[in-house]
Amino acid sequence: MDSHIIVIGSTGRIGRAYTYHLQKNNLKFVGISKTDTQNEYNHIKIDFNAPSMKKVEEFVSNNKIQAIIHLATTNTLMDDSLEYHEKINVGSVKLFLEVIEKYKLKCPFIYTSTELVFNSKKEGHNENSPDFSPLGNYAKSKLMAEKESLKYKNSIVIRFGNVIGIENDFLSSALNILKQKKDYNAWGNVYNRFTYIDDIIYALDEAISYKGNQKIFHVACNDPPLSRYEFLKRVTELKYKNSDFLKYLNKTSATSKQLSVRPQYAVLNTKITERELNFKPRSIFYYLSRQ
Ligand SMILES: NC(=O)c1ccc[n+]([C@@H]2O[C@H](COP(=O)([O-])OP(=O)(O)OC[C@H]3O[C@@H](n4cnc5c(N)ncnc54)[C@H](OP(=O)(O)O)[C@@H]3O)[C@@H](O)[C@H]2O)c1
Repeated sequence: MDSHIIVIGSTGRIGRAYTYHLQKNNLKFVGISKTDTQNEYNHIKIDFNAPSMKKVEEFVSNNKIQAIIHLATTNTLMDDSLEYHEKINVGSVKLFLEVIEKYKLKCPFIYTSTELVFNSKKEGHNENSPDFSPLGNYAKSKLMAEKESLKYKNSIVIRFGNVIGIENDFLSSALNILKQKKDYNAWGNVYNRFTYIDDIIYALDEAISYKGNQKIFHVACNDPPLSRYEFLKRVTELKYKNSDFLKYLNKTSATSKQLSVRPQYAVLNTKITERELNFKPRSIFYYLSRQ
């Protein structure tokens, strides 16, 4: 029986990058998402709003499962109720843990989460920090989903920062506007440690075969915390020296209302992941200068 990876959220931005990587490496997987995939791979359609797990159960009973990677999510920007975020983010975890239990699977269940569960001040929280402070409903539901995932003994949680190198990421969205010579307002008072997609792909691959005891990993670059404005300014100086982008880039401040639903510092510390997954964080500008 062939061993398959299940990728929940295969049509999302990170899901597309990861399934492309699996295809390139001839690894067997089945993708799961609300809409059909445009790409040619084994796919099961499920809407976690009104889910039926019948096809997943059929698949699990006919195939050996190497790992389940959970990349499906509600949107950070969605102004929805906690109940809605919980239904999709926590509900989907519960459904898969039930399948794991019913079919007595032993494979790793890898849940992907966000730096927004913390408000981590300058240097950031490490992987084992219990000092959570999720502000918005998205972040609250992601923390609930992490806790739900960890009820299964072979679960792993991987948190990322603001991900760059995927379609419609923060950087490409800002550059699209600047390229049209339109003003772009970037917060100078909200700080991140950005995550590049290649590091996520590395960490997911490593987590599938990880045999140690650590349950939570952080994937992020090793730059000092950068404001969104500072990040865009440095990218412009690095890659678009001869453009007039800086003329259109304005430094603004997130208001107290905006900061009531998102942390001012969302900065992951990756030391434990470096040790456990042999993760070697680099500067986000290393990746951007290669492109
Ligand atoms: N992108 C970032 O900057 C970032 C930062 C930190 C953490 N993360 C985490 O990384 C993971 C992947 O994020 P992403 O940026 O790739 O997300 P994304 O682009 O928004 O993709 C979301 C995925 O979830 C699926 N989905 C959403 N609602 C669903 C529903 N009701 N039923 C079934 N599937 C549903 C979508 O399916 P359809 O395409 O069919 O709608 C899509 O495949 C998430 O866990 C997220 O929290 C992302």
